[in-house]
Amino acid sequence: MSAFIIGASSGMGLALAHEHAKRGEPLWLVARDEEELQKVAADLEIRYRATVKTLVVDMAEAAGVQTLIKNYLDIQELPRLYLCAAAGTDYPDFLEKADKVQAVFQANSIGPIQFLNGILPTLAQKGEGEVVVFSSVAALKGKGNNPVYSATKAAVAVYAEGMRNAMKAKGVQVTTVFPGFIDTSQTFGMGKLPFLHTVEGAAQDVVRAVDKGRDVVFTKWIWRFVMLAFQIMPGFVYNKMSFLDGADWQRILGKDKK
Ligand SMILES: NC(=O)c1ccc[n+]([C@@H]2O[C@H](COP(=O)([O-])OP(=O)(O)OC[C@H]3O[C@@H](n4cnc5c(N)ncnc54)[C@H](OP(=O)(O)O)[C@@H]3O)[C@@H](O)[C@H]2O)c1
Repeated sequence: MSAFIIGASSGMGLALAHEHAKRGEPLWLVARDEEELQKVAADLEIRYRATVKTLVVDMAEAAGVQTLIKNYLDIQELPRLYLCAAAGTDYPDFLEKADKVQAVFQANSIGPIQFLNGILPTLAQKGEGEVVVFSSVAALKGKGNNPVYSATKAAVAVYAEGMRNAMKAKGVQVTTVFPGFIDTSQTFGMGKLPFLHTVEGAAQDVVRAVDKGRDVVFTKWIWRFVMLAFQIMPGFVYNKMSFLDGADWQRILGKDKK
């Protein structure tokens, strides 16, 4: 099965590209930074003799979404689709700059949902397709240090769940990935993180789970239980745990200025 990876130039998307290239499968790689994408493509071609096509697109823009829909649907044998691209998690910025809220919803929720709305009816008609949507464990319980990011990831998780419900009977598999902490640029500099997964290990977990037709994947699996514990925890207990949110609020409240 070939793979079409949106957000393929780093982190999870890049590691997934390696997994599929190892299996000798053709790749379509999407990101915004053309130079970086070309470097990735050249490396995969040399390393695995992979067939790689690249597409420079900003998924946060309406025109970018239309380009992606057209390019994806033009492929004869529809590749497995991985939707990895996302804007980052830096919350204090969102408090200070209103337009950032709009931008992160556009990249993480609106762009992906418009893109999937554009392709899923065709997949349903053909009665085939594998779609993998990256959410986050942050979508499963609001946290004080990244409420905007969490909300964008909750939006795609609920959308993917709804679409899975609609598409299952039509032969289209929609898988939602709930990553915990993975060692990528997104977590770089965050210090010691619990249950940190390697990006290679996480990509292997995802590929294996999608091969098996799983609806939902947690990387690592322990996050399923950690998040369940947070979800069933009484609110008054959870609200006492804001110390877990750490430095950001200290900075916002000016308490780090001694
Ligand atoms: N890493 C973690 O610990 C973690 C935890 C929970 C959830 N996740 C989720 O897992 C997914 C992968 O995360 P990651 O850590 O691998 O991210 P990453 O290393 O930051 O990679 C993001 C990729 O998406 C591309 N991208 C970003 N914005 C884009 C846009 N508007 N249009 C097209 N491409 C875009 C980036 O390339 P360009 O900048 O060149 O476009 C890059 O290739 C994300 O959905 C993230 O929210 C990650």
